Amino acid sequence: MEPLRTTDAFAIDFRKKFELGGKVIVVTGACGLVGRAFCEAISQFGGHVVAVDIPAAEPEKFAAVLEERHGRKMLGVSLNVGERAEVEQLKATILSNFDRIDGLVNAHQNKSHLKFESFECVTDDNWDTVVHINLKGTFLTCQILGSWMAENGGGSIINIPSTYSVVAPNQNLYKGTSLGCPAAYSASKGGIDALSRYLASYWASRKVRVNMITPHGVWNNHEAQFEENFARFSPMERLSYNHEVAGALIYLLSDASSYVTGDNMLVEGGWTVW
Ligand SMILES: NC(=O)c1ccc[n+]([C@@H]2O[C@H](COP(=O)([O-])OP(=O)(O)OC[C@H]3O[C@@H](n4cnc5c(N)ncnc54)[C@H](O)[C@@H]3O)[C@@H](O)[C@H]2O)c1
Repeated sequence: MEPLRTTDAFAIDFRKKFELGGKVIVVTGACGLVGRAFCEAISQFGGHVVAVDIPAAEPEKFAAVLEERHGRKMLGVSLNVGERAEVEQLKATILSNFDRIDGLVNAHQNKSHLKFESFECVTDDNWDTVVHINLKGTFLTCQILGSWMAENGGGSIINIPSTYSVVAPNQNLYKGTSLGCPAAYSASKGGIDALSRYLASYWASRKVRVNMITPHGVWNNHEAQFEENFARFSPMERLSYNHEVAGALIYLLSDASSYVTGDNMLVEGGWTVW
């Protein structure tokens, strides 16, 4: 929607700027820790969610729950975001159900089946899988769904890099725990950051805004030692919660951020500030 050409603040309904009423928003990794909160938040602000995830996550069931909760049409689609033909089919399915796409949120991730192996032990296969799903999956959804938005009046894309594409992981964070952060994950997320900035510039004149949200340390029943270490290195002295990431999402998806593109909104409790 074109912004009102006015200097009269009284002419603006500021609450309405945050509404997503009638918008069709695609969320990949919809059944994950952060994706679930994103989908519920979009639903509460009036949007139609297209919940996308791998078959094992059963996004169709999740979409049915959202539809029941909110009394509005939702769609669940099982696929692998790394496969072009499957993302092409996704576009066709969305358009046959809704006739439009207003937003895309790439919240999928693959950290590899050997999540916390040391750098020296990373195999080609492991590296390729992480980069393929994280980076190529984001490229494919942006190209196939984003191009549709560019050709049809615009939209909003939110991609998810990582704190570890902004700064390196502090290895002390993992001391005494079974956790870590693989190099392929950081590298794939760095690619997502660069791709997002590229597309923000490339599509700005066609009204597709491309922004990023960087969550950090989202609590998921972590082992106690990790939570303790994390608190020591965090200015806010705690992990975050998935629902705390969703406020940034509603802002970036909605007209409230109509003049924002190419931004990476850090929801990281000040982790990179010192
Ligand atoms: N949780 C955190 O602390 C944190 C921090 C920084 C960034 N992030 C990023 O935020 C996003 C969401 O994180 P999360 O914690 O919810 O992750 P998660 O692992 O809980 O969820 C990821 C989802 O992606 C899905 N997925 C995996 N491969 C897929 C594929 N090939 N096609 C479609 N879907 C696929 C999974 O099934 C899962 O439901 C990710 O991009 C992650 O890298 C998370």
